[in-house]
Amino acid sequence: MRLHYNVASPFVRKVMAVAIETGLDDRLEPAARMMTPVRPDADLIRDNPLGKIPCLVTDDGAVLYDSRVICEYLDSLHDGPRMFPAAGPARWTALRRQAEGDGIMDAGVLARYETFVRPQEHRWGEWIEGQKQKFRRALDALEAEAEAFGDTVDIGTLTIGCALGYLDFRYADEGWRDSRPRLAAWLERIAARPSMARTAPVEIW
Ligand code: BEZ
Repeated sequence: MRLHYNVASPFVRKVMAVAIETGLDDRLEPAARMMTPVRPDADLIRDNPLGKIPCLVTDDGAVLYDSRVICEYLDSLHDGPRMFPAAGPARWTALRRQAEGDGIMDAGVLARYETFVRPQEHRWGEWIEGQKQKFRRALDALEAEAEAFGDTVDIGTLTIGCALGYLDFRYADEGWRDSRPRLAAWLERIAARPSMARTAPVEIW
C-alpha cells in the first residue's frame, strides 16, 4: 500500500501510529510529499484532488483519505485488538476523542499555515488567536478527562497523543503542561509506546 505522507504532519503520524499498533507498518510504502495549500504536489493530486495528506492507495488500487478513513481501513485488515471499538458507548467515546484530537490538529495546522505560509502583510492576528483558543479550550477539557483515559489505546487516545505531540512540535512556547498536569502525565505514558516514539514529528522546511 502506498502512503502519501509528510513527516511533520500530525494526521500522517496518526495513520503511522495506527499502522504500528496493528502490525501493518511493514505493508506501507511511503511516498514523501512536500506541499502547501498554495503549492500542491502533482503526484498527490493525481490520487487526491484535495491535495491533502495522508492519502493511501491500497493494494487493490483504491484511494482512501482522510486520516479517519485510512485508520478505519487499516483497522479492518488485522486480527489484533481493535483501534475502533465495534459498538456501544466505547465506540462513541473513541470517535469523539478522535474528533477532539483532529480538531486540535486542525487548529494548530491552520494557525501554523497562517504564520508560515501566508505572506506577512496578509496575516490576521485575531484569526490566529482564535485557532489557538480552540486548542486551549480543548486542552482544558482533556485535562478534566485525562484520568478516565487510563491505559486505553484506541483511535481516540492515539489521536489525542498525536495532537499533543504536534503542539509540542509547533507551539512549545504555549507551555500547555503548566496548568494541565494530569494530561501531561498521561501523555508521558502513551508517548513511550513504540507507535508514538517511532513517529515523532520531524522538521522539514
Ligand atoms: C507542519 O510543518 O507543521 C505541517 C506539515 C505538513 C502538514 C501539516 C503540518
